[in-house]
Amino acid sequence: MAETVLVTGGAGYVGSHVVAELARCGYFPVVLDNFANSSPAVLPRLRRITNQAVPCVAGDVRDRATLSSALAEHGVAAVVHCAGLKAVGESEAQPLRYYDNNVGGALALVAAMARRAVKRLVFSSSASVYGQPDRNPVAEDAPLEAAGVYGRTKRDVEHIFAQAAAADSTWSVALLRYFNPAGAHPSGEIGESPTGRPNNLVPVLAQVASGRRRTIDVYGDDWPTPDGTGVRDYIHVMDLAEGHICALAHLARTTGVGTFNLGSGSGHSVFEVIAAFERACGHAIERRVAPRRAGDVAICFADPARANAVLGWRSHRDLDTICADAWRWQTTAS
Ligand SMILES: NC(=O)c1ccc[n+]([C@@H]2O[C@H](COP(=O)([O-])OP(=O)(O)OC[C@H]3O[C@@H](n4cnc5c(N)ncnc54)[C@H](O)[C@@H]3O)[C@@H](O)[C@H]2O)c1
Repeated sequence: MAETVLVTGGAGYVGSHVVAELARCGYFPVVLDNFANSSPAVLPRLRRITNQAVPCVAGDVRDRATLSSALAEHGVAAVVHCAGLKAVGESEAQPLRYYDNNVGGALALVAAMARRAVKRLVFSSSASVYGQPDRNPVAEDAPLEAAGVYGRTKRDVEHIFAQAAAADSTWSVALLRYFNPAGAHPSGEIGESPTGRPNNLVPVLAQVASGRRRTIDVYGDDWPTPDGTGVRDYIHVMDLAEGHICALAHLARTTGVGTFNLGSGSGHSVFEVIAAFERACGHAIERRVAPRRAGDVAICFADPARANAVLGWRSHRDLDTICADAWRWQTTAS
């Protein structure tokens, strides 16, 4: 029987793609979002993509009563927890807001789920839990050395969910450590639309390419990498969404906690991403080399072997597809 899956933060960038993929795979997705960094305008778009109305609970994940009634009313079997604040710079300026939202939200969620005996949970964690990895590719057993507030909230939430599962063997939890999600749904209906200034490379490139911004800042061209710019693991958001479906299928067969890197397993430099975006949009993109940012690393890319072996998941969309889909989203819908 088709199961209902609650997607917290389901109106956001990753969550909306997870919702679309859940519907495509025969689940009934339900969104819970407070629209702190998204808009209800995504819901009719999801309806067009999925050919079904996606129920939405407008509420805060820290509100236990709202959560509890959403779980009961919709007969939720599993939760994908994407709701969270994610701007690294902002998290340093507003640490308590980030701990309250991200860690407080996780505590409320796990309590409401336990009360309703909903024990299957997928969590949007992040490669930022590793901090500055000293070795690449980065495997799940690398030291967790997140130094910043945002990465620490992710690490803390991982611990909370893992401890819940350690104390109650009926929990089944997947901690998914995303590397650098980018790209958009191929329909052009949904994509990344930050309410403020984007923090990630691809959305900024899309804004420069469309004339909304004049130039892209490249933070350092003197890193110990082949072209001197930072290397990251860009993962298409559709590949990422598919990883959540694989994780849910895995949780239905197991109990306990699994931690999985979701990355492509290879890295691309900032200059490579700019070149790919130029191919996608068909014209040159103005760039300016700026000083390195504190806390950045030269290279970070995933070892996704565990997700390949245990979840049967691998990414298959390349950097050109990421940029082409991001550009379609920028030009048609956003
Ligand atoms: N996009 C990335 O680069 C990236 C990388 C690693 C991990 N993540 C994590 O993945 C998750 C989703 O990221 P995203 O890129 O889709 O971000 P996003 O901001 O687009 O989506 C997050 C959604 O959560 C909602 N939200 C935030 N706090 C909430 C609360 N207290 N109650 C209800 N809704 C709330 C926001 O309104 C938004 O719709 C986040 O937890 C983020 O930390 C993202």
